Amino acid sequence: MVEEKLKAALPGKSPALERLHKFLARAGVASRRRGEELIRGGRVQVDGQVVTTLGVCIDPATAKVTVDGQPVHLPARLRTVMLHKPAGYVTTMADPQGRRQVTDLLADQPERLFPIGRLDYDATGLLLLTNDGELAHRLMHPRYKVAKTYRVTVAGRFDQAAGAKLLAGVALDGRPAVAERLRVLQSGAERSVIEMTIREGRYHQVKRMLRQVGFSVQRLKRIAYGPLRLGRLAPGAWRDLSPEELTALAQAVGLDPNIRA
Ligand code: URA
Repeated sequence: MVEEKLKAALPGKSPALERLHKFLARAGVASRRRGEELIRGGRVQVDGQVVTTLGVCIDPATAKVTVDGQPVHLPARLRTVMLHKPAGYVTTMADPQGRRQVTDLLADQPERLFPIGRLDYDATGLLLLTNDGELAHRLMHPRYKVAKTYRVTVAGRFDQAAGAKLLAGVALDGRPAVAERLRVLQSGAERSVIEMTIREGRYHQVKRMLRQVGFSVQRLKRIAYGPLRLGRLAPGAWRDLSPEELTALAQAVGLDPNIRA
């Protein structure tokens, strides 16, 4: 049975072997978790045999892997770009409501680039897209605590007490969510503008944290992601990361910068 043969091959025994769900992520097919779902769902074949067991290892150099019958290849060239996401685009790869997707803004690129994490439909700012599954996985993993900074417009006058609560941590989903840094850029009776840095990426995290201290978000723009800054990139425009940016990003999550820059 192919699964038993493959399972017996544990990654520790040969540096060339890799777990199937990691290989799928590295090939840009899906996140590791989604890769596991594809495997469990019987959609992945290795050397012509369906594999449904998790933990199976393959030799990426020789195994013929398919998903839904389509061959899976590792990208020949790792590429990561920065997009200034405009409002009115979804960051998912498919949208049941047929809304515009951020990937529409990068049409005609030879690589299959997918967004690293998400930004809400109405949010704007710095979004990374890549075909580097390992880099994406680490940047999104809570263990690496990558900082993200948002410029946020809220309704009403933002007060010190609200700021202090955010810095101390507010409860979201039964556990604390903390602002690491907070700056008030403008404070007015109608609206205020703040900059807030967090090191997690929970669903609607910034909006929900502000809601917890009594403020509704009118605008949300991500201006920094780890060591990267959005700078003057125009809304809807994108660019490849520079070698220096790639090095800094890889180092921020403990990856070898040499194969990326
Ligand atoms: N927090 C939010 O509420 N929305 C985003 O898009 C990103 C962070």
